[in-house]
Amino acid sequence: MEKKNLDWENIGFAYRETNKRYVANFKDGSWDNGILTEDDTVVINESAGVLQYAQTCFEGLKAYTTEKGQIVIFRPDLNAKRMADSAERLEMPVFPEERFIEAVVETVKANAEYVPPYGSGATLYIRPYMFGSSPVIGVKPAQEYQFRIFTTPVGPYFKGGVKPLTLCVSDFDRAAPHGTGHIKAGLNYAMSLHPIVEAHKAGFDENMYLDAATRTKVEETGGANFLFVTKDNKVITPKSNSILPSITRRSLMYVAKEYLGLEVEEREIHIDEVKDFAECGLCGTAAVISPVGKIINHGEEICFPSGMEEMGPITKKLYQTLTDIQMGRIEAPEGWIKVIE
Ligand SMILES: Cc1ncc(COP(=O)(O)O)c(C=O)c1O
Repeated sequence: MEKKNLDWENIGFAYRETNKRYVANFKDGSWDNGILTEDDTVVINESAGVLQYAQTCFEGLKAYTTEKGQIVIFRPDLNAKRMADSAERLEMPVFPEERFIEAVVETVKANAEYVPPYGSGATLYIRPYMFGSSPVIGVKPAQEYQFRIFTTPVGPYFKGGVKPLTLCVSDFDRAAPHGTGHIKAGLNYAMSLHPIVEAHKAGFDENMYLDAATRTKVEETGGANFLFVTKDNKVITPKSNSILPSITRRSLMYVAKEYLGLEVEEREIHIDEVKDFAECGLCGTAAVISPVGKIINHGEEICFPSGMEEMGPITKKLYQTLTDIQMGRIEAPEGWIKVIE
C-alpha cells in the first residue's frame, strides 16, 4: 500500500479527512448491515436525540505500523466492551462487540494509506461513536441511532521531546458519584470544556479532578487516568466508580507487574498523600503516559522529584515497554495486538 505523501512528523492533532468512514443505522429494533462511505457529512432531524438531550457516546483507539511493517490496532475488544457499557447506560442499543471490531478493521483497511509509517511517531486515530438520530421532544431515548467510525492521522504526541505537565486541582467536578463518569459519554466532555479553558487561561496544562462527594480523593483529568509511583517503586492508581476505565492504564498496570516486576495497586488515593509520591503520570490512548512535574492545590505546590525536565525513571520504563509492545519490538501478551494487514 502506497502511503499518502504527508509530513507525518508535523501533522499535529487535528481532524483531517481520510478516504472512507463506516456508517450503520439502527431502526425498528435492529442494526442494518453497515457500509463504508465517502460522505463525511451527517444529516439528521433538527430534534434528534443527540441534538436535544446529548444522547451520544464514543471511543478512541489507534492504528499504527509496527517494526515489521504490519498495520495493527491495540486491544480493540476493550473499546468494543466499553462502548457497549456506555450505550447501555445511555439507553442506546448496543452495537454488537464483534461487529464493532470488524467495522474498525474495515475502516482502517479502507484508509490504510493514511496509517503513518513506522518510526514517524504518528498514528491513525480511530473514532467510533453513536448517537440518537430520530426526533424526541419529551425527555426520553430516541427510537433510531447511527453508529459511525472515522479515522484521522495524528502526529507524534511528544514532538520535540517530553515536557512534564503542570496541573491544578480543579474547583469543578467532573463526575457525580453515581453519574456517568465511568462511561465515555459526550456529556462528560461538554461539561469539562469550561474548566479546561479556565485552567489554560490560568497557565495550567490540565485539571486534576477530585471526587465530587468529599473532595479529598484523586479521580482523573478531563481526558486521562492517573498513575503514581511511590518512593519505594510501587505503581498505584486511583480506584473509583466515577472515572473512565482507561485501557492504557489497565495495560500499564499489567506491564508494571508482569514485565517490570513492580508491585501494583488500585486503591483510593487521597490528595494529601500525593506530595509523598516520587512520580506522577497521565495515561491514555493519545500519549500512552505523559509525565506530570507539578500540581498546584489551592496555593500549595506539589513538585515531584522527577522534576520539570524529563519523565521519571519508572514512568519512562512503563512508556518504553508499552510502546515496544505496541510497535512489535517485544512480545505482546496474548490478544493485545490485532493485526489488520
Ligand atoms: C476521561 C478520560 N479518562 C481516561 C482516558 C484514557 O482512556 P484510554 O486509555 O482508554 O484512552 C480518556 C481517553 O480516552 C478519557 O477521555
